[in-house]
Amino acid sequence: MKDNRVYSVAIDGPAGAGKSTMAKCLARKLGFVYVDTGAIYRTVGYHMNLMGIGPRDKDGVERLLDDVNLKITYGDDGSQHMLLNGFDVTEEIRTPEMSKIASEISAQPAVREFLLDMQRDIARTHNVIMDGRDIGTVVLPQADVKIYLTASARIRAERRMKEQEAKGQKQSFEKVLQEIEARDHQDMTRAIAPLKQAKDAVLLDTSELNLEESVAAMEAIIAQRIPL
Ligand code: DC
Repeated sequence: MKDNRVYSVAIDGPAGAGKSTMAKCLARKLGFVYVDTGAIYRTVGYHMNLMGIGPRDKDGVERLLDDVNLKITYGDDGSQHMLLNGFDVTEEIRTPEMSKIASEISAQPAVREFLLDMQRDIARTHNVIMDGRDIGTVVLPQADVKIYLTASARIRAERRMKEQEAKGQKQSFEKVLQEIEARDHQDMTRAIAPLKQAKDAVLLDTSELNLEESVAAMEAIIAQRIPL
């Protein structure tokens, strides 16, 4: 970095667009901290589920929010770990059920409010690449770089299926596609902080690009705006 200030890169986009894979890769390359904000919503959803509270139960969720003690830690390889009340739940939050719960619970204003400062605090003190749904629009409206990363629903479903297969979670293509489309709809139509491209975000559609090409395209966008 050529100066002493901190920089932030905001990456938003629908489920399965490759945000986390690419952001992780670039963060390592550029020496930035990678922040996966979806994991934070997943962890809140996981806690509520554990306590028998449904993600749409507004009163129940609000009542239990203060019991949620979240901590983000990083492994030697830069991988993000989520600690919930001292327990590492990094693996547990990565199931299709938790994807759905996280999407539903994230529509609750109290949950978004609860997590806002935590996300902003990290960006205040570190160079970050932060991915999510509302990073460029709400969490870091002053981000130095904003990228809206997307790909067609079918391509995203194919990629998600491969990812899940690698983890031994086999599902049919139709089921994965249907889950992705349902989540797109839920995330894009909620009343508060819906997923949308920020006015000043660069659109990157990776439907026709492989991982290497997508990372290179993203790096070029960042390099135009940050003195690396
Ligand atoms: O990125 P992900 O698939 O792990 O996110 C899970 C859900 O969390 C997503 O469907 C919507 C919600 N989310 C959000 O509302 N805002 C964010 N910044 C990140 C995720």
